Amino acid sequence: MTQGSTPENLRGGSSRRDFLKLSSGVTLLPAVLPVFGPLAGSTAVFASAQAAPVSQGGLPPHAGRGLASRRKAFEPLAYSNVDAVSLAKGFEWYAIASTGDVINAQGDRFGDCCDFTAFFEGEEGPDHGYLWVNHEYVITNVLHGRKVGASEKTREMVDAEMKLVGGSLLEIRRDKGNSGGRDPGKGNAKSAGQWKLVANSKKAFRVDANTDMPLVGPAAGIAKGQMVKGTMGNCGGGFTPWRTALSGEENVDIYYGKEPKGFNYGWGRYYDRPEEHYGWVVEVDIDSAQARKLTSLGRFAHEGATFVKAKDGRAVVYMGDDAAGRCVYKFISKGRISGRKEADKDLLLEGDLFVADLKGGKWVLLAPANEKLAADKEGRFKTLEAILVNTREAAKVAGGTPLNRPEDVKVHPLTGVVHFTLTNNAASGDFHGEVVALEEEGGDAGALRFVYDTYIAGGRKQGFSCPDNLVFGPEHSLWVCTDISDSAMGRGAHADFPRNSMLRVEADTKTGATVARHFLQSPRDAEITGPSFTPDFKTLFVAIQHPGESSFEDDKGYTSHWPDGGSAKPRSTLIGVKETSGRFA
Ligand code: FEO
Ligand code: CA
Ligand code: CA
Ligand code: CA
Repeated sequence: MTQGSTPENLRGGSSRRDFLKLSSGVTLLPAVLPVFGPLAGSTAVFASAQAAPVSQGGLPPHAGRGLASRRKAFEPLAYSNVDAVSLAKGFEWYAIASTGDVINAQGDRFGDCCDFTAFFEGEEGPDHGYLWVNHEYVITNVLHGRKVGASEKTREMVDAEMKLVGGSLLEIRRDKGNSGGRDPGKGNAKSAGQWKLVANSKKAFRVDANTDMPLVGPAAGIAKGQMVKGTMGNCGGGFTPWRTALSGEENVDIYYGKEPKGFNYGWGRYYDRPEEHYGWVVEVDIDSAQARKLTSLGRFAHEGATFVKAKDGRAVVYMGDDAAGRCVYKFISKGRISGRKEADKDLLLEGDLFVADLKGGKWVLLAPANEKLAADKEGRFKTLEAILVNTREAAKVAGGTPLNRPEDVKVHPLTGVVHFTLTNNAASGDFHGEVVALEEEGGDAGALRFVYDTYIAGGRKQGFSCPDNLVFGPEHSLWVCTDISDSAMGRGAHADFPRNSMLRVEADTKTGATVARHFLQSPRDAEITGPSFTPDFKTLFVAIQHPGESSFEDDKGYTSHWPDGGSAKPRSTLIGVKETSGRFA
């Protein structure tokens, strides 16, 4: 596609209806590609894993109705009100790690509120691996066993909270046994095929609110040559082919406030840390355990950071800024991917950051060369450093489109169509959110023009509300996780949704309409986050985040006892889901 082509001629004669239908994650083509995932570091695997082809001149015609019928592999799960993980028939789950579990030989513990996950192949073959897991925040009422205001917290309480955020690198092995054993109260899965923590691992490690890490890239100077202390608010994320995890710092303004308005953790009473040190994407090398913050990717409430390759070999990272009226971004590296870690590992340090102008169908550069930024009357955007530290303000001036809380962004592995969620914005009358499909010009992640439309809207009829995390699974199926807040769940506009859920999106085989099939439901007050598949698609990892989040609000005690049952404290838990008689595809 030559430069200057209009969006209308990108689709090679396809109608808009074709575009929408086909961008739906149900593009039923043969799986000709290797998995686009964080694979082992050999050059050969790396090179093939990056060869994600994209559509040429419009998406291919709808095909493969046989596959569509294979996808009717499970009956939709009925919504219920139980304090449990519920799954569609044909699947089973098991717990891998819960808040407070020891993860390595030195006794480090799994943090709270597990979120984004990314699987990395291990050195021992397909039954060995590493799983990066974000820990977004802390349910302090559960940790302390009562409601504790920020102003009454002791330093010891704050220190305990600071250990529970950031992320974990887990070392895991798949059980090849056939004992048939089950673990009552911790799932219904047979042992064989379960991924389990490697006991006394020397590779597993934690990153938390006190881990030293440098700022790198164009705005690194704001740290004045010093290490930055820690990370928190680690929500969505991504991964690179050079075996690093990308961890998005999302709601970072609720931790260090000294005189907080609204909820605040009150850590600022004991620790004085500059707000500009937070709100970045953290890159964690899973092999060296080193972390750093990538200032080139901008500073805002980062949800995920999804890495793909442009046609010319540059690295592209898509990102959402999860707040009402905020934008969707992408970064394009200056250099090109070689397939060798040493040559590629700093690719995300230098490049261009763009914000999406949906009305204009274009990506707008956020740099001093942007005429609108250069013309800012207050002179706020004279340097790239100033733009990156104040990305939201720059995006607004530059013409980025304000959206209803952009969350996860995922790219269809075959077509290159970019899917992102707008979770909701009740204040503007959007209670249920939507999934958006954005087609880059020429199907190229490096393009600066696009067309977009709603792919599937949430709502009672569709059977889901407040989409947040996305993942593409086998046969390029798209899966959606929901994040209805505790205060809204089961009430008012959300009366039909007593719990959060995970659904598979697909084409109705009779009508062709895009529909969502209910697959998994969470325990009480929990959110479904961080879905990822193993490369063989035999395991789906899901982070069950904050069960019992509203415990000790209104003198209720624990509002969930999942996963341990009885009178136990609720604990966020990373689970594995595997097929018994059902199919993920
Ligand atoms: Fe932490 Fe945007 O969800
Ligand atoms: Ca999220
Ligand atoms: Ca969310
Ligand atoms: Ca969350």
